[in-house]
Amino acid sequence: MSAPIRLCLIGAGRAGKNHARAVTRHVPGGRFVALVDPVAAVRADTATEFGIEAQFDSLEQALAGAEFDAVVITTPTPTHTPLAVEAAEHGKHVFLEKPMAISLEECDLIIGAAERNGVALQLGFMRRFDPQFAAAAQRIEAGEIGQPMMIKSNTHGPGLPPAWARDLRTSNGMLAEVNSHDWDTVRWLMGSNYTRVYTEVANFKGAANNVDTPHFYDNALVNLKFESGGLGQISGICPCGYGYDGRVEIVGEKGIMQIGELKGQAIVVCTDRDQGLISPIFKTWPERFQWGYIYEMEHFTSSIQRGTAPRVGGAEGRWAVAGVLAGTRSFLEERPVTLKEILDSVARV
Ligand SMILES: NC(=O)c1ccc[n+]([C@@H]2O[C@H](COP(=O)([O-])OP(=O)(O)OC[C@H]3O[C@@H](n4cnc5c(N)ncnc54)[C@H](O)[C@@H]3O)[C@@H](O)[C@H]2O)c1
Repeated sequence: MSAPIRLCLIGAGRAGKNHARAVTRHVPGGRFVALVDPVAAVRADTATEFGIEAQFDSLEQALAGAEFDAVVITTPTPTHTPLAVEAAEHGKHVFLEKPMAISLEECDLIIGAAERNGVALQLGFMRRFDPQFAAAAQRIEAGEIGQPMMIKSNTHGPGLPPAWARDLRTSNGMLAEVNSHDWDTVRWLMGSNYTRVYTEVANFKGAANNVDTPHFYDNALVNLKFESGGLGQISGICPCGYGYDGRVEIVGEKGIMQIGELKGQAIVVCTDRDQGLISPIFKTWPERFQWGYIYEMEHFTSSIQRGTAPRVGGAEGRWAVAGVLAGTRSFLEERPVTLKEILDSVARV
């Protein structure tokens, strides 16, 4: 067996801890040997919990002070491009959380740096590695439900995202931070690119949560048209309160397929016939997609060991960002937006 891939975790927040947990407990092909986070208390806490020896304030310091093969970037979106480019320029393979970046120009900088330096670039679309989503994709590709005609994909998260992630000035908001997974999923399962989007948003809980950032929304519904002629819908709600809910329904010419369920465990309890049946719901994203997070890190480390390109890379990340930009422009300008408009406006970098 080859030696584990030496990983440097950049960002010790929610997603960083989740990957540290997945690798430390379940992925023998990888080992976190260094950790970067400018917040000392958060860094020390995560390093202790997962036994990560070397700690640094910045990637620059880590590159100078530790030996590693790859980085796992789990920092706020505006930092993705400088970190991914710097890591790639130093010959480090890159696992990058979604959303890939803020703009398509940034996506191109990341893709260019990875290609130029011959390093792997994998995007954090763990639904592609979730056993249920992966099995469904194979069955759709094998033609079981026929030509896909319509897809509905939802991500409803229980709590308010961090302040930077819900502010359009520091991220592209919920359509990016929560619904990136849906943008990727609908393209993947429909086997076609979206060509036009129309978004409506609403703000139900902002005031009660003391959020007064401009254009804040906590509900979004996007209608989609695909190149194939198919139709789609993405829905986002955050915070929804009731649990973590990420499900898909896809209808083809020969049938329907539903992926995922609300029920978090195969347990049903009844102690009162008036109250009826009680069953656990998925409470959080780490719980719902536990195996997706494990398998995506397994795929990243084994792709590096084999010298093959990860199967979810820069092109997929860029398409999701293009969807987010079209969806955001649509609600801001109150009109349907074509992907052509977004893709044609990219400045060459
Ligand atoms: N795939 C998923 O299901 C999933 C789930 C949650 C978050 N994410 C993504 O992960 C990323 C991080 O989100 P989060 O919720 O963990 O955020 P967070 O705010 O909980 O944590 C971010 C961490 O990054 C650190 N940081 C900031 N700038 C840094 C820098 N330049 N170098 C090193 N560390 C830095 C912060 O101190 C903080 O500890 C985002 O892109 C988010 O969309 C993905």
